[in-house]
Amino acid sequence: MINVVVCKERQEIAERGADRLVSVIGEHDTPVLGLATGSSPIGMYEELIRRYEKGEVDFSRVITFNLDEYYPISPDNDQSYRYFMNRHLFDHVNIQMANTHVLDGLSTDVEKECRAFERQIEEAGGVDIQVLGIGRNGHIGFNEPAPSLVPGVHKTDLTESTIRANARFFASESDVPRQSLTMGMANILRAREILVIAYGEDKADAVAALLSGGVTTACPVTFLNLHDRVTLLCDRAALTLCGEGVPQTES
Ligand code: F6R
Repeated sequence: MINVVVCKERQEIAERGADRLVSVIGEHDTPVLGLATGSSPIGMYEELIRRYEKGEVDFSRVITFNLDEYYPISPDNDQSYRYFMNRHLFDHVNIQMANTHVLDGLSTDVEKECRAFERQIEEAGGVDIQVLGIGRNGHIGFNEPAPSLVPGVHKTDLTESTIRANARFFASESDVPRQSLTMGMANILRAREILVIAYGEDKADAVAALLSGGVTTACPVTFLNLHDRVTLLCDRAALTLCGEGVPQTES
């Protein structure tokens, strides 16, 4: 069952998320974090930076793997997910850049890049905690609703709805890359723990599907119902389509 933590405001989501990541970092010799980009985790990354500055967390042994990257895109492009991670977290803490892994959006041998990424996750001992946001259509990473989903790291086409949603970050919709490299469903589900962040009414459909308890490829986030250690950090707006019976286990 999903552990639902309902927060009053985004800052509380950021703090709760940071609490959990700081704990995981403290529990392992070489903590392995699976990270996401997008607006959902930004507050949590800001909170992690604050805690680092106060001396409350040490990133020197942390290893990270990001969920996804646009394709094609240069790491220097300010819309790349590598750029995003450097700007919102890595440049501000004592993480070793060599320990941060983001799929190469310029790779000329995509198959090799995807298999190498999986091997690196395995060699690091697997992901201790995976952070996820949810797309309006229920995507996680770039695993979009489809008749079937892909288990491993792969290249995929963005749906029209995701291109439209992400166009807000680019000069124009035509600048949004049409493809991406992404962890697949099995990669995500293999993480020992999953932390999902969702706020705002935009996410209400996907959150309602997740909390219905079923599993459907039409809404990839519902696959988290197959995992036994998932926490959803959300606000009330994200729960508006869930009705009365939200299985809240913490508040
Ligand atoms: C980002 C990612 C995406 C986002 C999702 C939600 O690395 O994989 O699946 O998590 O699109 O985006 P936001 O948080 O901007 O609503």
